[in-house]
Amino acid sequence: MKLLIAIVNTDQLDELRDRLFEIGAPGLTVDGVMGIGKPLSQMRYSEVRGFIPKFFARSRVEIVVEDDRVDEIAEVIQQVCRSGRIGDGKIFVLPVDRAIRIRTGEEGRDALY
Ligand SMILES: Nc1ncnc2c1ncn2[C@@H]1O[C@H](COP(=O)(O)OP(=O)(O)OP(=O)(O)O)[C@@H](O)[C@H]1O
Ligand SMILES: [Mg+2]
Repeated sequence: MKLLIAIVNTDQLDELRDRLFEIGAPGLTVDGVMGIGKPLSQMRYSEVRGFIPKFFARSRVEIVVEDDRVDEIAEVIQQVCRSGRIGDGKIFVLPVDRAIRIRTGEEGRDALY
């Protein structure tokens, strides 16, 4: 299993939920975050011009899926959240050791769906 963490624009959240519903994604967790992308690594350059990177409000979407659905989910996120403008966000993919449904004790894929 993998954990997809997507940092995206909040405006796209409803459409993203709709598309994830269409394809039967196992679930999702969303929270509001503040972040900075590329400007942070360009700080030295920017400092010269007296520019301080600003925080922007974003949404962090977390989805745990089986390995063989990572590409499908990542593709949906890109289709919905890519405007082509800066700040469209990023997707990170991390390994997940275990998933347990608390109510039943089911594990792995059985705990996801
Ligand atoms: N390396 C990173 N680690 C953690 N969070 C990140 C990282 N890069 C980006 N983010 C998060 O993603 C958000 C959106 O990043 P953003 O899309 O602006 O990336 P970027 O590298 O600046 O690319 P772009 O040129 O498309 O803007 C940031 O505000 C931050 O919250
Ligand atoms: Mg950026």
